Amino acid sequence: MLSLERVERSLESAGQSHVLQFWSELSEEDREGFLQELSQLDLDGLKEHCEGATRAAASPPASLDQNIEPVPPEFIGSVRRSDKRSLSEWENEGLLQISGNQVGVLLLAGGQGTRLGVQYPKGMYNVGLPSGKTLYQIQAERIHNIQELAGRKHGSKCTVPWYIMTSEFTLAPTEKFFKENNYFGLEPSNIVMFEQRMIPAVTFDGKVILQGKGKIAMAPDGNGGLYKALVDNKVLEDMKKRGVEYLHVYCVDNILVKMADPVFIGFCVSKGADCGAKVVEKACPAEPVGVVCRVQGVAQVVEYSEIQPETAELRGPGGELVYSAGNICNHFFTRAFLHDVAEKFEAQLKQHVAIKKVPFVDTCGNPVKPTKPNGIKMEKFVFDVFPFSRSFVVFEVVRGDEFSPLKNADGAATDSPTTARNSLLAQHCRWATAAGATLLDEHGNALPPTTSVSAGNNPPAQCEISPLVSYFGEGLEPLLKGRTLPTPFILDEKRAKELQAQ
Ligand code: UTP
Repeated sequence: MLSLERVERSLESAGQSHVLQFWSELSEEDREGFLQELSQLDLDGLKEHCEGATRAAASPPASLDQNIEPVPPEFIGSVRRSDKRSLSEWENEGLLQISGNQVGVLLLAGGQGTRLGVQYPKGMYNVGLPSGKTLYQIQAERIHNIQELAGRKHGSKCTVPWYIMTSEFTLAPTEKFFKENNYFGLEPSNIVMFEQRMIPAVTFDGKVILQGKGKIAMAPDGNGGLYKALVDNKVLEDMKKRGVEYLHVYCVDNILVKMADPVFIGFCVSKGADCGAKVVEKACPAEPVGVVCRVQGVAQVVEYSEIQPETAELRGPGGELVYSAGNICNHFFTRAFLHDVAEKFEAQLKQHVAIKKVPFVDTCGNPVKPTKPNGIKMEKFVFDVFPFSRSFVVFEVVRGDEFSPLKNADGAATDSPTTARNSLLAQHCRWATAAGATLLDEHGNALPPTTSVSAGNNPPAQCEISPLVSYFGEGLEPLLKGRTLPTPFILDEKRAKELQAQ
């Protein structure tokens, strides 16, 4: 721990002396805690951090229209546009890599989930499925099943290690939750939780925000904090030790995420890619998602705010959007690429500005909950490493099958617990129908079959299939063909065994 004098000097030269304005009012214990916190700050970089934040917040978003072009088709794979044979070749390749213990998954779970507004990590959220499962449980069960699928196919027992990046906000509750739930049946030594760094939030005039008299308002450094955290926590070494060569990185909030998706992994591996992005077709030109494209010849995600509406609306000869590759934060990286990023490129990653409401104490030390945004949080983004890739590929998947994020609280029109729950139930209704089942509504009337994903995300009935029974709709025919199923219907392992025995 640094001395008070040393901290005072550093804060002064960074123009941040106000940080200690309540020092004389703090108890001995609070002083010690605060000094500890301040000692862990990058005090030498603090001046630049604060000035950089105000500069970045004041500068208008770049306009990239003149310099962008779509990713050329030869670097794009697509579920919709590929034949069955290619898809199954990629899947086999992916399963082979998984069976050889070469694939890991990495969850980005350090965010604060402010839009959802719960006081616990988003992964612990229960969206109201009939089973009551949380996002973490669904993901754990998918890992379990993909290990089984790959192992069965290749006659080996294999492991997909689960790396979980947390932050100061999410580490302790996530650890506790996993422990209480017995790691959802996974082997605890194959779950590696680690913490990303935190950085101070700053006012519009470049002052570190005090959240309490002896506490700085700190925020995680964005999901691009991953690359520092991989080094800080020796995660790349852990991957090397386990022989993990490929990593599937994803966000906590996508209820449909296909953990270690063998088709995606297989596609990227067979193309010799070092970095890949899963995308979905943009729903409409104005959808506020980043687009994977090229800027001056280099792969990049361009934010909706960085291009003009006219560019977003451009269409090709078949009427399709030219910039349609919506980024869904589902990435493939080789370990070698991550190593290069960590060693050579991390410092070059772009800083993004998020303007947020940050609770603070006023000059009298009274806590204030701002009603409008008052602070700047600087963040790095996980996708900003794309420009450093030497062989970058894109893989387009079907939104209704793979992407439904939980961002907002119920009541919002999009990306809420209800929309996430509905997407999953609609998908499971499709799987059951495709396997030959007839679903009955709550009055006992047969529902018309819905096998097409274009039928939308409103589930005709409550039908939930455990990821322990089926990972992507496979293996259901022997259980469900020709059956008439009253709903709500939950197909868990126990029910699957009963159906098998009948
Ligand atoms: P979001 O951008 O949706 O942010 O994160 P968020 O913090 O979850 O939610 P809001 O904006 O406060 O409502 C996308 C993914 O990146 C992770 C999140 O946990 C989520 O999986 N993330 C975000 C991190 O791991 N670290 C961060 O610093 C920020």
